[in-house]
Formats: sequence, C-alpha cells, structure tokens
Amino acid sequence: MNLRKPATQILSCVLKEGRSLTNALDKGLAPLDTAQDKAFVQALCYGVLRDYHRLDFILSLLLSKPLRNKDNDIKILVLMGIYQLRTMRVKPHAAVSETVAAVGKKSWAKKLINGVLRHYIREQALFDQQVEKNTVAKYSHPQWLINCIEHDWGKQAASLFEQNNQAAPMVLRVNLIHTTATDYQALLTQHAIISTIVPFTQTALILKHAVAVDQLPHFTKGWASVQDTAAQLAAPLLQLQENQRVLDLCAAPGGKTAAILELEPSIKMTAVDIEEKRLQRIRENLQRLKLSATLITADASDPKTWWDGIFFDRILVDVPCSALGVIRHHPDIKVLRRESDINVLVQQQADILEAAWHLLTVGGVLLYATCSLLKQENQNQIETFLKNHPDSFEIPIEADWGTPQTVGRQILTGDQAMDGFYYARLGKK
Ligand SMILES: C[S@@+](CC[C@H](N)C(=O)[O-])C[C@H]1O[C@@H](n2cnc3c(N)ncnc32)[C@H](O)[C@@H]1O
Repeated sequence: MNLRKPATQILSCVLKEGRSLTNALDKGLAPLDTAQDKAFVQALCYGVLRDYHRLDFILSLLLSKPLRNKDNDIKILVLMGIYQLRTMRVKPHAAVSETVAAVGKKSWAKKLINGVLRHYIREQALFDQQVEKNTVAKYSHPQWLINCIEHDWGKQAASLFEQNNQAAPMVLRVNLIHTTATDYQALLTQHAIISTIVPFTQTALILKHAVAVDQLPHFTKGWASVQDTAAQLAAPLLQLQENQRVLDLCAAPGGKTAAILELEPSIKMTAVDIEEKRLQRIRENLQRLKLSATLITADASDPKTWWDGIFFDRILVDVPCSALGVIRHHPDIKVLRRESDINVLVQQQADILEAAWHLLTVGGVLLYATCSLLKQENQNQIETFLKNHPDSFEIPIEADWGTPQTVGRQILTGDQAMDGFYYARLGKK
C-alpha cells in the first residue's frame, strides 16, 4: 500500500476540514495493518504540519501559479514530497516516485509533481537560502502568531519558535499509590526502557525514546500514565489535605484529575467538562487507574445547573486556552488557531474563573492553569481577577521550575524539557 494516500487523507481532514490532528489520526491510522506503517504515516503527518508554513513557502517558489482549492489533495502530496526530501531519510528517487504514484484520478498532476520535486532536488540549496530570508518560512509559524509571541517574549521568541517545532519527549507520571519514580525507573530499566527522573517532581520520568504504552510495565494495572512534566506540577500545587472536597473544572481527558487522586486518594473529587465525549476519556482513564470521581457533563461557567451548593476546599481551573504551549504535541494548532480566537478564549476563561470563585470555601485554594504562552490568558487575566475580587489574594508559587511573573509562574516551552504552561495560585479571604 502506498502510505502517502492515507497520509494525504489525514492531512486533508486537518487542512481542509479543520479537524484536529489527534482526531484525524484516530480515524486515519485505524485501517493500517502494521505498527511500522502507522508510525511512518504519523511521522509524515506530524512533520508536514510542523513544517507547514516553510513547505508552503517553498511550494510557492516552485509553482508559477498556485494550485486551485479543489486540488488541495495534490498540494498536500507535493508538501509531503518536499518534506520527505528535506527531512526524512527517504531516498530522493523513492520520494519522487512514491509521491507521484499516490496520485489518484488526477493523472495530469503526475507530471506536475514529478517536475516540481525534481526542480526542488536540483536547487535545494537555493530554496533553503530563500527560507532563511522569510520569517514565516524560517520559523514555520503564521505571521500573526510570530507577532503575538514576539510581542510577549521579545528576544526569547526565536527560541520558542524553535522549541515549538521540536517533537516533545515522552514523559511518564508514576502512580504513587503503587510505586515511586526511583522504583519504577528501575523496573523500566529491566525492560530496556531508559529514563531520567525529573528532580523537581515526585512523579515524572522522561523516556529517552518513546515507546508504545503497552510496553510499559504494569501499565494496564495503572502504575504509570503519559503526561508532560509541566502538567504534573498541578496536583502538588493544590496543597491537598486528607478528605478535602476538590473540584476539577474543565477536566477532560482527566490527566490532572487522576494525578490529584493519586497524590491524595482520600479526597472527594468532582470533575466537570462540557463535552460528554471527552468526559468518557476521564471515565476510561480513571477505570484503568482504579480511581473514582463524580463526573459531570456541564458548562463550568454556569454552576447553577449542576452544583449541589456545598463549597469546595480546592479548585483546579484548567481553562480552555490557545494551547500555544503544547504545539510540540499538537503542531496542527499552528494551522488551525486563528488570531480572533484569542479574545474569545480570554472571555471564556474569565467567565469560568468567575464562576469557580463562588464555589470555593473561605480559606480554600484555587489553582488557575493554562498551557498558553500569552500574557493575556495568563498573568493579565489573573491581575484583572485579583483587582476585581478583594476577597482574593495570590499564594506565591516558590519552585525550581519556570519564572515568576507579576503574578503566577510561567514555563516557556522547552524549559527543562517541558511544555509551555502557566500556573497562578489564589487564596480566598
Ligand atoms: C485544557 S483542557 C483540560 C485538560 C485537563 N485538565 C487534563 O489535565 O487532562 C480544557 C477542557 O475544557 C473543556 N471546556 C471548555 N469550555 C468549557 C466549559 N465552559 N465548561 C466546562 N468545560 C469546558 C474542554 O472540553 C477541555 O476538555
């Protein structure tokens, strides 16, 4: 089977229909037979989306006029061809012939693809020079996003673009109910899986090479889960005590819900998410880990529809955000996110935070989290909140990770190998 065909379909779902890469891969990889085929198609799709803006720029130099919208499938094939030539270890003649062979009914496109890819091979050095001179192509980010990140992070922006285009390491969260990071690391070593302990957490192990989860010892028994180090920092920041009532708003797929329960199994956990389908993922995760929580499908910003009137001691508000800190895992964000989304998200975050605040007991702790790099969604949001809520105050986060902001703490993508994240901890007077 020519694997460029399923790859084209997956990328078309993302680039034409606007679906997420995770969703498109779920469906698109299912019919493939072997793990090796799946891995190749997945690598191709991730790679093309990481380099999308760069590849698109090169294509614009190679074509005398752009391809029509209805020939988007052909455009994707050429982008994949250029990607294979630039980055994958596919031999040039194979990259060209296999890409040409993946053309379906549009036989006119065979000549075009063949010509374009051969032209690229002949003058690759020249095209690479052009890439260096064009900011969008060089960083492989859309211009609006370059502007936003440069606005907030100045000189650090270039390294953020670079980090965003790297593959993230696979990180495990060990389940403290069953084991410790040191013991699980030893167990991994026995299975020839090499890992590093993250010293400022109790639970994180970074794997040298990613593996399928079914290769992890006692995975089905819940000894370990896959979760980036930055996300693992949430649970300890909540300063949990036995038997507390904890609310996880915006909880799906439940990574942090589970981490909180593993750290303090005696708590009474309520987890809310607006999407029933995603809530199902929390159910599955908790089932594997043999943990339990009250799960509610509801709008977090409208508690009168679901709240039982008893205050919570701890609340995690892991709001929907631009997700610019997790582009390493989801490179489709660079092509799907729109500049106009940001203000809408900032308002949603403010609404959810406002609603959450009224559910927190006096003396309670609320942790606000985003996987964003933008100050609008992070420190500016919390500064405004503190100003408008005289009964709130910041409980500063002292830590060996991230950098303190005017309020809260920011992790920039790639800091200590982590995703970009922001945390602010608030107390109630
Ligand atoms: C950043 S993700 C949460 C990740 C999760 N905390 C974890 O660690 O696995 C944000 C979640 O917010 C949910 N969401 C968005 N708007 C919401 C709303 N108004 N009420 C409740 N959940 C919402 C989304 O469905 C999504 O699952």
